[in-house]
Amino acid sequence: MIPNLEKILKAPGMLTQNEGEYLYRLAQFNPAKGAIVEIGSWKGKSTLCLALGSMSVGGEKVYAVDPHKPLAEEGYLEDTEAELHKNIKMAGVESHVVPMVMTSEEAEKGWAQPVRLLWIDGDHRYEHVKQDFLLWESHVIEGGVIAMHDTIRKKGPKRVLWENIFFSDRFQEISIVDNITAVRKAGNISLGKTLTKWMVIACRALYIAARKMGLPHSKPFGRWILRKLTT
Ligand SMILES: C[S@@+](CC[C@H](N)C(=O)[O-])C[C@H]1O[C@@H](n2cnc3c(N)ncnc32)[C@H](O)[C@@H]1O
Repeated sequence: MIPNLEKILKAPGMLTQNEGEYLYRLAQFNPAKGAIVEIGSWKGKSTLCLALGSMSVGGEKVYAVDPHKPLAEEGYLEDTEAELHKNIKMAGVESHVVPMVMTSEEAEKGWAQPVRLLWIDGDHRYEHVKQDFLLWESHVIEGGVIAMHDTIRKKGPKRVLWENIFFSDRFQEISIVDNITAVRKAGNISLGKTLTKWMVIACRALYIAARKMGLPHSKPFGRWILRKLTT
């Protein structure tokens, strides 16, 4: 357990402890240079994990994009902007978060910075996840990381993962931590890396099938194996 994350992980939000710690590590260790962009902050749980990770190594700011408006279709019924600000203050990460109260589409319009870590956790409907991916992927530098949430249980992110990442030869080093899937953007991928990538995808498919069949302990065991194999 990373010490200063304990309090943050108790804050309201949609991340498991493993996921929070993983985002912290991604923000900390990704050696590429560039901003961290978050699509979908809600009350800021992932924002804080990313900001704390980056802050701990004197890294870049987190641009936290979210309109914070109720979105009944996705089950968000409140305005969360005030709570985001409160949580940023509570965690002492004001210097490392730039809240952008707008949609991902609006934020991308004037965007001109390279991005080393793109975290997609906004509207999970297929067309929206796809739009977030297509709008922002080109800003991610080579060696940078794209991480997406709800890639095991929600149809939208899963489909984008297959169509735009798994079947593309521009991404490698798939990591799976609970419902997060992260990949590194690369120029050329060697045969060895391609084989490793498809091996991970096959393990993931087995895990999903085992869960669908309701095999006992498939969720904790599968999550554990995928974490150990891929991170
Ligand atoms: C799953 S929640 C984010 C959870 C957050 N990452 C956490 O760790 O608790 C999804 C968020 O995406 C936001 N959202 C919806 N449409 C969006 C868009 N077009 N651009 C950016 N954010 C959006 C919603 O307002 C909501 O707060």
